[in-house]
Amino acid sequence: MHDFRSFVRLLEERGGLDRIAREVDPRFEQAAVMQKLDQARRAFLFEQVQGAAYPAVGGLLNTLPRFGLALQQENPEDFGDAEFDALLEAAKASPIDPVETTQAVSQEVVIEGDAVDLATLPVPTFFELDTGPFITAAIGITRHPENGIYNVGVYRTLIIGKNRCVINASSMSDLRRHYAAWEATGDPMPIALAIGADPSMLTAAACKLPPNVPEFGVGGALKGAPVELAKCKTNDLLVPASAEFIIEGTVDFSEKVENLLGEFAGQYGPETAPATTVTAITHRRDPLFHTIMAGRNPEHNTLGSVAVYGVQRSIEASLRPVLPQLKQIHVYLEPGLGTLAHVVLSIDKQNDAEPRQIIDEAFKAGGHIFPVSKITKRIIVVDDDIDVHKMDDVQWAIWNRAAAANKFMVIPDVESWELERAAKAGQLSARIGIDATMDLEDVDKLVRPITPGATDLRLEDYLGTKPGKQSVA
Ligand SMILES: Cc1cc2nc3c(=O)[nH]c(=O)nc-3n(C[C@H](O)[C@H](O)[C@H](O)COP(=O)(O)O)c2cc1C
Repeated sequence: MHDFRSFVRLLEERGGLDRIAREVDPRFEQAAVMQKLDQARRAFLFEQVQGAAYPAVGGLLNTLPRFGLALQQENPEDFGDAEFDALLEAAKASPIDPVETTQAVSQEVVIEGDAVDLATLPVPTFFELDTGPFITAAIGITRHPENGIYNVGVYRTLIIGKNRCVINASSMSDLRRHYAAWEATGDPMPIALAIGADPSMLTAAACKLPPNVPEFGVGGALKGAPVELAKCKTNDLLVPASAEFIIEGTVDFSEKVENLLGEFAGQYGPETAPATTVTAITHRRDPLFHTIMAGRNPEHNTLGSVAVYGVQRSIEASLRPVLPQLKQIHVYLEPGLGTLAHVVLSIDKQNDAEPRQIIDEAFKAGGHIFPVSKITKRIIVVDDDIDVHKMDDVQWAIWNRAAAANKFMVIPDVESWELERAAKAGQLSARIGIDATMDLEDVDKLVRPITPGATDLRLEDYLGTKPGKQSVA
């Protein structure tokens, strides 16, 4: 299974990575180049970032087929959302415990005390209003002070000084719970960041798991072997032995710092988190620093989809028991549609009042991760001839089957997720319900044109070859 650098090498060999030899300014210029290449689905390596001592790489995991390649799936070009979701579910069901080692390449070079200088890292400042430079591809590692259970997640980290940074934790994160538990003890909280961990471990870190399920086990399952962990040099935390860099530190709860960054949905996110004092930086001999283009950009959003699958499953699990008549459910959670979910439900409609009743019930459903109304902006009910998994089919139904005003519902002043930045005082915002089913009186005049036999036709029987496939690199 690939470690970070073998995956970078593989992409370069396949022609998927561009090297930038020209020196770039980490303030905006680096991000501007990253943005362009990431959007073109290219990986990149900056050989020289002004003031930094190491090269920066990114754009590595900006398509799902790239994840398929990194996680060594049989047909990476066919690796899509369904395959990724199934792979993650299988890994969660059969975690493999990590093992401890004293042979850690992530500690080949050890920088401690006064020698620590975060300015040597090639960390970009991405957007004009960002508080400062952000590390975006680090996995944060902590242990709960009482039960000792590890938590690992991807957390943006603002650099505020030579040996000071701010590791962010949003309100629903397990890291936020660890911060609160440690702050209550009054003891110094050890924390570590790993940058350039194996793609399997980075993927596991991005998973939204219950607090008592350690991400190291899921990382092991994705890798097909135990994750090797080594003890930090300046605290007792165990960290990935094969990572490119480890940053070790102690959280200082006396200083809470606002860290504003352009976020995944294309808006600024004001967040506040405690500062961390860095006690050591360790790294491989020729380390590669992973940096993910922030904001609404492909690598960030593709890695983010790992957490999205869990939220989608949670919404579906909330709706099924209360609405047994639902045929198909699809939850759209994609940055192009904002930060909240758009849920499409199909039914075999019995009467014209039914879709509105379903919309009411669905918004009232309780939640596994979130109450449905808090995370869902819009619920659309369609007839069961509509493919809920295809947004263009759903849109077609809305704009061809919903004519009367009462097919569109606006529910005002619903408590919304903090990431809906346009919400008003009290974090309140509107919810939308759309009944996109045919009114029963219109069924005969809205028949869809169908060519008999077209659905099951195999084009290769006519072309002699299979239609072309998407290339991975
Ligand atoms: C590039 C990237 C940056 C992220 N930044 C943050 C962050 O700053 N704070 C946060 O709480 N979650 C962030 N996330 C989401 C978490 O990594 C993800 O939800 C994870 O499941 C949280 O784990 P936890 O609940 O165990 O803390 C980010 C995800 C990605 C892909």
